[in-house]
Formats: sequence, C-alpha cells, structure tokens
Amino acid sequence: MTLVSIDHGRCRRDGLCSAVCPAGLFENDPDGFPQFLADGDQRCIRCGHCVAVCGFEALQHVDLPLHQAPIVDRRLQLDQAALDQLLQARRSIREFKSEPVPEALVKEAIEAARFAPSAVNRQPVEWLVIQDPTEVRQLAGLVVEFLRGVVEPRYAAYIAMWDQGQDPILRSAPHLVVVHAPDDWSWSTVDSTIALTQFELAAVARGIGTCWAGFLMRAAVGHPPLREALGIPTGHSVTGALMYGLPRYRYHRIPPRQAARVTWR
Ligand SMILES: Cc1cc2nc3c(=O)[nH]c(=O)nc-3n(C[C@H](O)[C@H](O)[C@H](O)COP(=O)(O)O)c2cc1C
Repeated sequence: MTLVSIDHGRCRRDGLCSAVCPAGLFENDPDGFPQFLADGDQRCIRCGHCVAVCGFEALQHVDLPLHQAPIVDRRLQLDQAALDQLLQARRSIREFKSEPVPEALVKEAIEAARFAPSAVNRQPVEWLVIQDPTEVRQLAGLVVEFLRGVVEPRYAAYIAMWDQGQDPILRSAPHLVVVHAPDDWSWSTVDSTIALTQFELAAVARGIGTCWAGFLMRAAVGHPPLREALGIPTGHSVTGALMYGLPRYRYHRIPPRQAARVTWR
C-alpha cells in the first residue's frame, strides 16, 4: 500500500507537493503528475506539507486525512505589532491570584503547543498538568529536599526562605505544567523547549501568567523522589516545567534587555 495517492482529476500538476516535501519523496510521471516514490512509505516523516500545500484536495495521505487537516482561515490576519508586543511584554510571573485557571484555557494552550516544530516531526513531548495547589506545594518541598543536599551557597537563601514559610521554588503558584520526553531521542530537550515556549505564549495570550520552573527541572533530574512523585515513566526525563496561574499584578512597561549580539554577513 502506498501512503500517498494523487487524484488526477483534481491535480493541477503545479509541482507544489513535490517542491515542499522535505524528504524529496515525489517524482513526476510521464504525464507530469506527481508520483510518490516506491520507498516513500518508509522515508515519509508525516509532516503533512504535501497535504497542506495542495489547494485542490488532490492528494490523499493515509496517515494524514484531509478531515484532520483544517483549512487555514485567511481572514485571521496576524497583527505584527500585537505579536511583537506579546513577545516583549511577556513576563515571568511569580505572584498569582488564588483563583484557579480554567482547565479549558490550558487545554487550548496545549493544543497550540502541539503544533510546535520537532526534529524529524517526531513530536516526542508528553504533558503533565498538575492542577491541585496542594500537590504543587508538595513538589516544591521535594525540590527543597534536593537543594538541601547540593553544596551551592546561593541555595542557602532559598532554603531559609522555604523554612520561613515562603515558596521561592514554585512561587506559591497554584498550578504546574511539566513536559517529559524519551531519553533515547537526542532532540528531546530542544523539542520540549520549543513546545513549552509555544505553550507559554499561548497561555499569556489567554491571560495566564507563567514562569519557568528551573529549580524543579534540575531536581527532577537529580532527585529520584521528585521524579517518582511526578510519575515520570521509565525511559523518559523531565525536559521542562512552568508554574502558572492568574497573574496578581499587571506590568506597565517592557523592561530593557541587552541589544542583540548579531554578526551580519
Ligand atoms: C530555563 C529557565 C529557568 C528558570 N527558572 C526559574 C526559577 O526556577 N524560578 C524563577 O523565579 N524564575 C525562573 N526563570 C525565569 C527567569 O529568571 C526570567 O526569565 C528572567 O529573569 C527574565 O525575566 P522575564 O522572563 O520576565 O523576561 C527561569 C527562566 C528560564 C528560561
């Protein structure tokens, strides 16, 4: 069985499917119609570019049916200035309201994130969403347990804050999202970081405040009890985490950042 079939009645022989296929899996038949290569089934990365670029529904891909590929709505114009402001005005939020974030909004942000690019389109990222603030607090406690065993003077202040009833680890955030991915995939960290960044931006656009949970990410690697409490499956590692909640405060300015260090050639 071939993965891709071409409807000659619909195909305009414009060569677009062939042009965009990253693996070069099309050739032209003698009549100029695209033809999927005989070994294409093994080499196809299921990126769906061939399906998505055809404006005439002339191409069917067994694993990527048209009914699962929504039409791009051209009326939704991307406002460049608004997007640039979203990117610059996003802040790490460390003060949250106690009111919970509606689950539906988080689902939407994950939906946006699952379209993130991933190496060879492997899409290796798995999500763990911890909605219970008590559990988030317990996880922060396990991170502190880990920090107590690490000889780094800068951690002492954080441990002291925790001992005084503050939470410098997960900032008393009500919720936490953790991503994990397979150990046997060399792009797991990169793919996860891109996906979580996409989640973060989609979350900000929905009024959710987020902050990368660096301490927890470190502890998830070095402290098995935390890994166990998270329930990370064997063969996977934590590749990213964000605390999130509804922001308590609003920022009025975009703080300065270093000028980009760019070499133009
Ligand atoms: C990988 C990574 C780990 C981070 N870990 C923490 C953390 O554990 N706790 C925290 O309060 N902020 C953490 N941050 C947030 C940074 O401190 C923050 O991005 C930086 O100060 C710039 O502020 P901004 O995000 O508001 O622009 C982390 C950020 C990144 C990218």
